[in-house]
Amino acid sequence: MNAENFAQPHLLKQPIYVTGKPIAYTAREFGLDPAQIDKLASNENPLGPSPKGIAAAAKALAEVNLYPDGGCYDLIGHIGEFRKVNRDQVVVGNGSNELLDLIAKVFLGPGTEAIMGSHGFAVYKLATLVQNATPVEIPMPAPDFNLSLAAVREAITEKTRVIFIANPNNPTGTELSAKELLDFARSIPENVVLVLDEAYTEFIEEDAPDFLPLIEEGLPIICCRTFSKIYGLAGLRCGYAITRPDIASLIHRVREPFNVNSLAQAAAQAALGDQEYVAHVRKANAEGLKQLSEGFKSLGLPYIPSRANFIVVLGVKEPTKAFEFLQKKGTIVRPQRAMGDALRVTVGTKEQNERFLRNLSDYLKSL
Ligand SMILES: Cc1ncc(COP(=O)(O)O)c(C=O)c1O
Repeated sequence: MNAENFAQPHLLKQPIYVTGKPIAYTAREFGLDPAQIDKLASNENPLGPSPKGIAAAAKALAEVNLYPDGGCYDLIGHIGEFRKVNRDQVVVGNGSNELLDLIAKVFLGPGTEAIMGSHGFAVYKLATLVQNATPVEIPMPAPDFNLSLAAVREAITEKTRVIFIANPNNPTGTELSAKELLDFARSIPENVVLVLDEAYTEFIEEDAPDFLPLIEEGLPIICCRTFSKIYGLAGLRCGYAITRPDIASLIHRVREPFNVNSLAQAAAQAALGDQEYVAHVRKANAEGLKQLSEGFKSLGLPYIPSRANFIVVLGVKEPTKAFEFLQKKGTIVRPQRAMGDALRVTVGTKEQNERFLRNLSDYLKSL
């Protein structure tokens, strides 16, 4: 009998997350040299991992015969010190993606709702659906693709348990002001958990809203961060959440005992202590964004201003065709069909950005 007949019925409609295309796939498909392919599709760090992170992971490799520390004691201690919070407020996850799933596991189930933007990070919807809960998507209309917090507030019902908001948002790269977000956080019911996804917050550090005082006051807020982006450790899978101790304790109950591997714990701890590298990546990213924005302007293409490590360029006719054209030339980007004639590109190195702009120009000429 086909397993679909005895699986959980709601899972039969569960969409599968489509990841950015790996370099090896594109190389195989088009007979290209992997070294000549620029993967600008998943908002990874083009400068590589934090060197201190690599060294720590290499050292930890000798002890992978042992299980990792299931409580992430040292890493949580470092995060607590760095962010000035108590250790009972911190949960570490196998990427912040896992934390989003765990949050959904704790708060969502049949008959409950989670609110998110229509162009929010895809995992919010997937994590909600897997719990057999209902995603409520707030339109983020063109041309600016902003999320209206007033509309989010209006969508709150007695069934709402979670609100997912990323700032800056992926894939749009749009940002909400700190004041707007902090006022919003204070305005929602006390039985609705506000998840602030801060995956790209380090890129806007000085302007990022600080929710930690609100958590201290007792608001049900969860701030998620990741080591995948500015720290360059996406392949190791490590992220963390800061929240109220009662919420942290619930998330701990539903996580796997050894959810974060020992290489990730060691690398993340060392990378956290490598703020020089973080500053270096932030600066290089700002320069790359400027380079790409100017490139789009000279190609006559509109774009959504971004301070994250990616940017959406608009007016690229037939984005799927553009994606295919670009990958044959060695640049992997993400078509954003839901946003119209749009492509999302990760900020690469100066040379990668140059190659991408050249290839994009060739695509426009080919139309
Ligand atoms: C907004 C947002 N949140 C979370 C994640 C997940 O990151 P990770 O699981 O690597 O920590 C991503 C990854 O692209 C993202 O864009």
